[in-house]
Amino acid sequence: MVSPANKLDAPIGIFDSGVGGLSVLRHIQAQLPNEHLLYFADSGFAPYGDKPVDVVIERVLGIGAFLVARGVKALVVACNTATVAAVRILRERYPDMPIVGVEPGLKPGAASTRNGTVGVLATERTLAGEKFLLLRDQIVAATGTRFLLQPCVGLADQIEFGEPGAPALDAMLERYIAPLLAQGADTLVLGCTHYPLVQASIEGVIRRHTDAQVTLIDTGDAVARQLTRLLEAAGLLHDRDGEASLTGFTSASGTALSAAFASLLGQNPPVHELAIGATLSKPTGAHI
Ligand code: DGL
Repeated sequence: MVSPANKLDAPIGIFDSGVGGLSVLRHIQAQLPNEHLLYFADSGFAPYGDKPVDVVIERVLGIGAFLVARGVKALVVACNTATVAAVRILRERYPDMPIVGVEPGLKPGAASTRNGTVGVLATERTLAGEKFLLLRDQIVAATGTRFLLQPCVGLADQIEFGEPGAPALDAMLERYIAPLLAQGADTLVLGCTHYPLVQASIEGVIRRHTDAQVTLIDTGDAVARQLTRLLEAAGLLHDRDGEASLTGFTSASGTALSAAFASLLGQNPPVHELAIGATLSKPTGAHI
């Protein structure tokens, strides 16, 4: 755990099943430019969406323990699927640690729709989450919003491991998004942190189907704001300029994570390959 003497200087641990969490990390860097950040991409075990829930819980607890052992002062579960499966258990294990999870932006979706129809793109596991469905029901009762839930099987995997701009990605986006537009959705919630990474391709598909304005909801900004609030409340904000750092860790190829840092963030931080647990093995490498 972090000692009181250096707790402001301690890093923030951020993780995802792969590179998707970088869509959250970029907001954290923008809002908290002085913080030291550790990013863990569990690309060797991606995607989480098709894994049994106990495997996802084991991965989350393993990565959480690794980051806590490196002295983090807060954790960000930058993955909707991992949040649904394990954030409660992670909070039970580290009750004094500020922990922020990511959930599909149903409230901002309901607030932004003009015609009351909102499409929600996410993994099957996220859309089946008890808390998610409860929140959906509450918002429906309060606002009358019609949510169209679209499980996007294989999409996080395609973004993680496929070639950028590959026809397979476009075909998949078309398959998942076109029916939502046909049913009148004027707002699409990006309920997986991988999806904002292909926002340009998503916008391309939308433009092929409608001239109407379609709003995309990405919760990365709100997650960074919630992290800021929790750090402020705990007196843990790093307050000196010019000391920020970023370090990457991956359970797959370090070269692939370095390439993702370069292409998505224009940064070149040190990256370490390491094995955490060994329930599954999948030789992989992200190409984004
Ligand atoms: N970025 C993860 C999420 O937000 C990807 C899901 C997966 O690994 O299946 O849900």
